[in-house]
Amino acid sequence: MPSHFDLISTDTATAARRGRLRTRHGVVETPIFMPVGTQGTVKALTPAHLHEIGAQIILGNTYHLNLRPTSELVAEMGGLHEFMGWNKPILTDSGGFQVFSLAKLRKLKPDGIEFQSHIDGKKLFLGPKEVMQIQTNLGSDIAMVIDECPPWPCDRDACASAVERSFRWAGQCRDIAVDSGFFEAGHHLFGIVQGSTFDDQRREAAESLATLDLPGYAVGGVSVGEPEPEMLKQVGATTPFMPADKPRYTMGLGTPPQLLKMVALGVDMFDCVLPSRVARNGLVFTPNGPINLRNEKFRLDKSPIVEGLDNYTCRNFTRAYLRHLLLAEEMLAGTLLTLHNLHFYLDLMAQVRAHLEAGDYASWHLEWIARYEAGLA
Ligand code: GUN
Repeated sequence: MPSHFDLISTDTATAARRGRLRTRHGVVETPIFMPVGTQGTVKALTPAHLHEIGAQIILGNTYHLNLRPTSELVAEMGGLHEFMGWNKPILTDSGGFQVFSLAKLRKLKPDGIEFQSHIDGKKLFLGPKEVMQIQTNLGSDIAMVIDECPPWPCDRDACASAVERSFRWAGQCRDIAVDSGFFEAGHHLFGIVQGSTFDDQRREAAESLATLDLPGYAVGGVSVGEPEPEMLKQVGATTPFMPADKPRYTMGLGTPPQLLKMVALGVDMFDCVLPSRVARNGLVFTPNGPINLRNEKFRLDKSPIVEGLDNYTCRNFTRAYLRHLLLAEEMLAGTLLTLHNLHFYLDLMAQVRAHLEAGDYASWHLEWIARYEAGLA
């Protein structure tokens, strides 16, 4: 199969990379942020909005879509792209992580996880066989292996057993993908590196997963309650041992400064519910830090959220009007503020790519973070 990932350049002053990932539904320029569309929709936005703000790839979720409407129904409707009217790439998480965070009565078995649906209590099972079948039914461009994400904090032995189980399951997912023609049909499957706060276990996990020669790899088990310096330390302890010629993805992260710091550590792909979730509460991003539009001080503010930012919200609406929509609990607030926050993240990643191409990423990202953090004070 021709290579699906081109490493266009590696920064000389940091470990940042500029790359290009080919999928069945088009090319993804990296580094990239992926808006989260857990239930087959990026909450509050239409696919037309997503195209307008420059989204190249979005996320879906095996756990949720398999509970409702079921992956069989989605397959019957022509696959997830067709079902939700999105014709660009989709990455789906495998569901194991959501079982640990959402489902009731989980029981780990050698070949998967038994659990009860958080919606109707139905008894269900997810293992390598099931997650590969579901992600095939959905038509994911990038599927994730099923893994066990240890909690934070976690003791060494429990972590080692999660790493061992995750490796075994990853191998099983890969074998299924090979046998079923998943790779030949142009789908990708990414491995997930666990290891909690243990650098040696993260290295071992990354190196053993690399032997499976998967199309990409993720750092998992971060953003599970640990403080930020610990999170960055874990990412930094993992990326050097992930294959340089494959895309690298950190799952479920982060704030704008965290994204820039992780790009400098060599990460190419990100997803996070943060920008869309906080938007619905009135928190919006600016280059000078986030602001809460519910604040009284914006009552008569005639400026847009960010002057000169080229998105529908900033081109057309004042902070005062957006504040009014929030206080009146109008649905449009969720749409306009989500559109802004996701555009802010996507625009930030476009700036990252431009500065990597210009060769000044190291100084630019530090200046960007300093300006943003000055606004947090
Ligand atoms: N989303 C955020 N973290 C993780 C993780 O460790 N594993 C999976 N599968 N999904 C995640």
